[in-house]
Amino acid sequence: ISTPPIFTQEEVNSHRSLEDGVWVTYKGGVYDITEFVAMHPGGEKILLAAGGALEPFWALYAVHNQEHVLEILSEYKVGEL
Ligand code: HEM
Repeated sequence: ISTPPIFTQEEVNSHRSLEDGVWVTYKGGVYDITEFVAMHPGGEKILLAAGGALEPFWALYAVHNQEHVLEILSEYKVGEL
């Protein structure tokens, strides 16, 4: 049994551009969504969450409250907080 890589909030915070990579957190998981930014149906708004938590944004945009959105997110998991 392997444990997932653990990242600090500071490290997540340093990935907030397409150049440095775009990382976000969701429920304790850390996701590198750099490759997804260009595919996002909601466009560049997604960059507002770069380097931080998705929860406040997904609370505003309830379109994300669907199983298929979580499936997309899960593909980009790189570790945990
Ligand atoms: C729509 C994924 C982050 C704003 C969507 C849809 C997906 C998606 C799959 C289409 C849903 C559907 O119509 O069934 C994601 C993922 C995110 C993310 C995987 C993070 C990794 C964000 C953030 C914001 C945002 C942070 C806002 C700050 C929107 C908006 C739409 C949308 C406004 C609606 C677009 C439209 O239908 O015109 N997102 N999203 N998303 N997203 Fe995101």
